[in-house]
Amino acid sequence: MSEHYRDHDHERAQRRENPDPTEGERPFPKPLLAVVFGLVAWGIGYIYITQSNDDAAFGDHRTLSTLQGPAPGAKVDGAQIYNAQCVACHQASGSGLPGVFPPLAESEWVTGDPARLAQIVLHGVSGTLTVKGAAYNGMMPPFKDKLDDAEMAALLTHIRSQFGNRGKPVDAKLVLEARSASSARTAPWNGDDELATFK
Ligand code: HEC
Repeated sequence: MSEHYRDHDHERAQRRENPDPTEGERPFPKPLLAVVFGLVAWGIGYIYITQSNDDAAFGDHRTLSTLQGPAPGAKVDGAQIYNAQCVACHQASGSGLPGVFPPLAESEWVTGDPARLAQIVLHGVSGTLTVKGAAYNGMMPPFKDKLDDAEMAALLTHIRSQFGNRGKPVDAKLVLEARSASSARTAPWNGDDELATFK
């Protein structure tokens, strides 16, 4: 009997207890939801509106179109090649950096014999090079493997007509001839000494 009694007691004690807590079915507050969605939409909009791929005011002034290069079949653009390949050293104004990178502006090498100019850009230059009366002793990289004849012609025509220069245009045939005349060469031209062999 005592066993039965105890059971009963136990049940009553259990009933007195509070029920186990359960998580309430409280919905996410609507205003907060609106704020979250609003922020996400604003973020996406902000990224979209401030697309700065073509803003050349920052960095090294190369735009997306410069880096992508010309569209296939497009006419080669000498200015674009200059901006992609040469501007880092010779600067956008063609004035170079005093004592480090010689100027292309009013340079006798640029406006002079176009075949000699083609040789300079095809193979590069090291050793002492005198430009507008100042001696440079740097390293101009070769571009023979980077630019084809048409690209080289457009580039040389560009630098001969910019920065105050008044040189005649250069065509792809001249570049091709310059290329084959020096096809065995693997080293850059050795400054004034070697380039003096051209007129
Ligand atoms: C890494 C830097 C650098 C880059 C890039 C460069 N050059 Fe040069 N360039 C030089 C230096 C340095 C010299 C002088 C070499 C020497 O002192 O022997 C030079 C010399 C020249 C010269 C003969 C001297 C003069 O000022 O007229 C020409 C022309 C020239 N560069 C054109 C170009 C063209 C065109 C490009 C782009 C295809 C180019 N360079 C890219 C550094 C550079």
